[in-house]
Amino acid sequence: MTDHSLRKPVRKAVFPVAGLGTRFLPATKAIPKEMLPIIDRPLIQYAVDEAREAGIEQMIFVTGRGKTAMVEHFDHAFELEATLRERDKALDALEPTRIQPGNLVAVRQQVPLGLGHAIWCARAIVGDEPFAIILPDELMIGHNDGTGGCMKQMMQAYNEVGGNLISVLEVPHEKVSSYGVIAPGNKLDGFGGTLTEVNGLVEKPKAEDAPSNLIISGRYILQADVMRTLENQEKGAGGEIQLTDAMAKMIGHQPFHAVTFNGRRFDCGSKVGFVEATLALALERPDIGEAVRAMAKRLLA
Ligand code: G1P
Repeated sequence: MTDHSLRKPVRKAVFPVAGLGTRFLPATKAIPKEMLPIIDRPLIQYAVDEAREAGIEQMIFVTGRGKTAMVEHFDHAFELEATLRERDKALDALEPTRIQPGNLVAVRQQVPLGLGHAIWCARAIVGDEPFAIILPDELMIGHNDGTGGCMKQMMQAYNEVGGNLISVLEVPHEKVSSYGVIAPGNKLDGFGGTLTEVNGLVEKPKAEDAPSNLIISGRYILQADVMRTLENQEKGAGGEIQLTDAMAKMIGHQPFHAVTFNGRRFDCGSKVGFVEATLALALERPDIGEAVRAMAKRLLA
């Protein structure tokens, strides 16, 4: 394969959203955890907005039973819109929920066999194109300096080096066993230290076996070949089919790089991370920031 063929445009993003959200029960009993809002936008909205900002056109949700609210969220809501119009209320708040007809596809992962299996469930829709993956639990917020969100930064790197890319960040060494961990190679010149070769990948290693404290932070740009690897991927950490294991097999055959995101990450899969994201973003909002700051001061006094 020529290098050129590993730089096809990335037009599709897969959102694995079939998880049960057990850490947020009972809130997630009847609604998907990706519909939990950070202030007034559900997590899935942040993820889709990040993809759109990076130029991605087609959104592929890998969902499961009881998770149709996410598809509804991006549909027209005729009654709601008619009522708002009748009452002379603005529809601006609904703007981000609009998706071009045909650009949202939902497939189901019938059984929870792991992240690798979830991604594989999207293979027919992904086809033979490179594609992005966004895990909505990992909320990545860019700085307000024009550098953009995580996927946008990764796309810029992809346009330079092609192949496969993952986003990484440093965590305290004792935390690595909850994540996919990279064995970093050389840093690439000309990217301000943000682009590193990936020499190896291991899913949820014991802290003492981990090759580094650089973890995969839930953003990927992968060549379609990973789908063929996933087809025969045996179970790995936790008895699940792991995306990390399939990616590891591609190293050495195709370019594989890690991007260190210039921005902030909130682990919204954990309660504390979720509250942190809510507070951090609320404090920055022009409409409520000041009131939230005053409220926080009162609470801490
Ligand atoms: C998944 C991936 C892992 C990655 C993590 C990021 O793990 O398998 O490599 O570091 O997401 O949140 P999970 O959180 O599904 O156990």
